[in-house]
Amino acid sequence: MDIAGSHVLLTGATGGIGSVLAARLTAQGARLTVSGRQEQALKATANACGAGAVVADLAVRSDVVRLAETCAEADILVANAALPASGDLVDYTEEQIDRALDVNLRAPVLLSRLLTEHMVARGRGHIVLVGSISGKAATKSTSLYNATKFGLRGFALALRQELRGTGVGVSLVQPGFVRDAGMFADSGAATPNGIRTVTPGQVADGVVRAVRRDRCEVNVAPLELRLLSAIAGQFPGFAERVQARADVDGAVRQIVEAQRSRR
Ligand SMILES: NC(=O)c1ccc[n+]([C@@H]2O[C@H](COP(=O)([O-])OP(=O)(O)OC[C@H]3O[C@@H](n4cnc5c(N)ncnc54)[C@H](OP(=O)(O)O)[C@@H]3O)[C@@H](O)[C@H]2O)c1
Repeated sequence: MDIAGSHVLLTGATGGIGSVLAARLTAQGARLTVSGRQEQALKATANACGAGAVVADLAVRSDVVRLAETCAEADILVANAALPASGDLVDYTEEQIDRALDVNLRAPVLLSRLLTEHMVARGRGHIVLVGSISGKAATKSTSLYNATKFGLRGFALALRQELRGTGVGVSLVQPGFVRDAGMFADSGAATPNGIRTVTPGQVADGVVRAVRRDRCEVNVAPLELRLLSAIAGQFPGFAERVQARADVDGAVRQIVEAQRSRR
């Protein structure tokens, strides 16, 4: 589907990947509405892109509905907002668990539900769900993040089949570790086992490609991570044994500690 001239709702626009996405979608000719919680940062992104802005907390259920109602005319949803949700499950309070599930999974599901209704009626639209390679491969100390991204993957692939023939496409864009900006780069950690990273610009390229070509799944990651995650997805017991032998605890601990305040 053409991005030029389309109305795009982008969530998580104040984040590292989101702000690059906002610029890229604008350059592609989109009429953009950006969303996030931090009003000042959101205004800066909106002003830079000539976009509309809606402040919304995706952990607040009424905010999700308000956002969808405000953007009922959207032709394209890019559901990009997420919390890092890293760390061991036992370290999470019930409230923090709810927030991770609400922001990372419930909000994109409900936004898709509310916006596709209008898109199907118009016979035209596209939903892009920004997942993660963590939606394909489980790792230590990421049980909640894995839960939301595995869930998002199943949702995206099934919704795509449900909407087949309606004129509304669904794509899942799954980045690996992203350098320069975003939740991993902000942690200051090195990647476990020196796995190579990708740039926010490559993620934006993946989103644009997904919409234009109606791609089912776009994995934005180096070859080694795409291969390892494919193997881990098929053989989780084998992947667990390999990971247990790898020396990744230091990198994992650094990421978890850096992201602890964002639960
Ligand atoms: N960075 C990576 O290495 C990486 C790798 C794989 C996948 N991803 C995925 O890429 C997407 C973007 O990640 P990022 O690295 O850009 O993350 P980020 O820099 O931490 O930004 C996260 C975005 O989500 C928004 N957000 C968080 N909680 C929210 C809430 N309660 N309500 C509304 N918005 C909320 C934040 O906005 P406010 O703070 O303004 O609310 C921010 O705009 C996510 O889906 C992430 O899972 C990232």
